[in-house]
Amino acid sequence: MSFSRHVFGAVQRRAFSASTRSNSKVAVLGASGGIGQPLSLLLKLNPRVSELALYDVRGGPGVAADISHINTKSTVKGYDPTPSGLKECLTGAEIVLIPAGVPRKPGMTRDDLFNTNASIVRDLAKACADAAPEANILIISNPVNSTVPITAEVFKSKGVYNPKRLFGVTTLDVVRASRFISQLKGTDPANENITVVGGHSGATIVPLLSQSGYELKGDQLDEYIHRVQFGGDEVVQAKGGAGSATLSMAMAGARFAESLLKAAQGEKGVIEPTFVDSPLYKDQGCDFFASNVELGPNGVEKIHPVGKITPHEQKLLDVCLKDLAGNIKKGVAFAKENP
Ligand code: NAD
Ligand code: LMR
Repeated sequence: MSFSRHVFGAVQRRAFSASTRSNSKVAVLGASGGIGQPLSLLLKLNPRVSELALYDVRGGPGVAADISHINTKSTVKGYDPTPSGLKECLTGAEIVLIPAGVPRKPGMTRDDLFNTNASIVRDLAKACADAAPEANILIISNPVNSTVPITAEVFKSKGVYNPKRLFGVTTLDVVRASRFISQLKGTDPANENITVVGGHSGATIVPLLSQSGYELKGDQLDEYIHRVQFGGDEVVQAKGGAGSATLSMAMAGARFAESLLKAAQGEKGVIEPTFVDSPLYKDQGCDFFASNVELGPNGVEKIHPVGKITPHEQKLLDVCLKDLAGNIKKGVAFAKENP
């Protein structure tokens, strides 16, 4: 048997043998993009997903037709922006993943995407609030530090905001933090789980290496922290104008969706880092903050505090909170001024 047949056969056998509940509709908005396509593919391989609804301003039905031939049980349907397309895509969804919007080019910050992506996310959030007010909404579109507060404001304005069901996807930061430490230490990344808190851009990304018992020093520590904070820029540079991380992001988004489905289907102790409406630093202007969050059938079950950190990590956190408060304020102001 060829290698690829062997690998994909194994993936499918694992997929079919996992315990499942039969009705979980998952929608992807921005499904034909760089993230949307591989993310949809990974969701099609997930036996916890029974129905996959793929929407994009262009190409949703084509991606859906392609993915629908994969021999796993879930149904797949693509939707165009016809008057009822987005509504039909969202109706009945338990999870909505939103990677719609433009990615960075070299030289740009995530905040440079604000002018384009803020209104895209606002409009999609409106559709979600109307058609799927009880769904878990997973925001991938950047700048996450601002697009999550925008979504919250839209839901509030429609009277359906549930802070337990809105998530900024920061999983990729943790995936990177684990991978990068494993490269330094020669360990298996699957066994690494580095806590990362704060937000999702540059200095707002704060890895807490000390909590995993590591003590990097001097330049090695600085280089590690820089790599986690600016890992996205590494990919943007390497792609040379063709976009930002898509494949690793698809994996991270699929992992987060899988965790939510596991928790919804009764599994206990499912913990993921995510950017949520959080009490931790509200007194410092940060109504949203990423930390480890226990997930449950109602979404957010328990928000873990940051915990014990070193004085150096505290300094990083102080810088993070200042930047993050500004990003959040900008998102809230946009949503209020441009309803
Ligand atoms: P892309 O340009 O390849 O794909 C974006 C897709 O969104 C396109 O197919 C486009 O047609 C679609 N789209 C645009 N407006 C839409 C709308 N109103 N409704 C539905 N679909 C719409 O970009 P990409 O590489 O997939 O990145 C998407 C976003 O994800 C970017 O903002 C990027 O910065 C962000 N991102 C976030 C993370 C993270 O960790 N949270 C990681 C990587 C990328
Ligand atoms: C990432 O972390 O890879 C994403 O936020 C995309 C980007 O712009 O870097």
